[in-house]
Amino acid sequence: MDHLIENNASSTKKRTSTSAKILIAATGGIGIGLTVICASFVAPAFRRICLPYVPATTHQVRNVLNLLPKNTTARRDKLLDIGSGDGRIVVAAAKNGLLADGVELNPWLVWYSRMAAITQGVHRQTHFYRRDLWKYNVAPYDYIVIFGVEQMMKDLEKKLISETSETAKIIACRFPLPNMRPQHVIDDGVNTVWYYDLYKNKSFAEELIERT
Ligand SMILES: C[S@@+](CC[C@H](N)C(=O)[O-])C[C@H]1O[C@@H](n2cnc3c(N)ncnc32)[C@H](O)[C@@H]1O
Repeated sequence: MDHLIENNASSTKKRTSTSAKILIAATGGIGIGLTVICASFVAPAFRRICLPYVPATTHQVRNVLNLLPKNTTARRDKLLDIGSGDGRIVVAAAKNGLLADGVELNPWLVWYSRMAAITQGVHRQTHFYRRDLWKYNVAPYDYIVIFGVEQMMKDLEKKLISETSETAKIIACRFPLPNMRPQHVIDDGVNTVWYYDLYKNKSFAEELIERT
């Protein structure tokens, strides 16, 4: 009898320790998973220029769309959102008929954007690249959108001037480019949008390139 009770107790102990191991492995796995996901969102804070994930509001997206052409002809303008976050600007522009790309460092946001483009029926008109915006070639684009931070605008202005074609248009939200003259400014405060026509800033752009 004693022998039977002992056997029972030892098998219960074994079962408990197996369930405990599974529980530890599962919580450990979830913990590691969450850390990996969060790390991608925190990583921008450790870069020379910190550009955190702050998605545009519906109002801000509407302001950008108001400055874009409605592409109804066969020739489609190409748009790039620099630091495209969850892809909302890219998807909205594609719905307006543009060919729209996003460049974004955070892999989760890139995958989310691709899924959003599929579910909203614009995956053929959109591309999302997981790249560093400072190393991404902006030359092929007609429209470039940036929801930036103040510290990046000077370097970004130089990059845009030296890489884009003369016909490119730049739409800067929240912070303006420091030297170029905007052709339109709409709204105010955090919703301000500055629209720059590179051709109209040609002489300044040439001067800046000569100086550097
Ligand atoms: C202010 S959010 C803008 C999001 C989106 N454009 C919008 O309006 O909803 C900036 C985004 O830039 C991304 N980012 C930060 N540094 C980057 C870099 N070096 N290269 C590419 N993307 C970057 C961040 O992960 C973040 O999603």
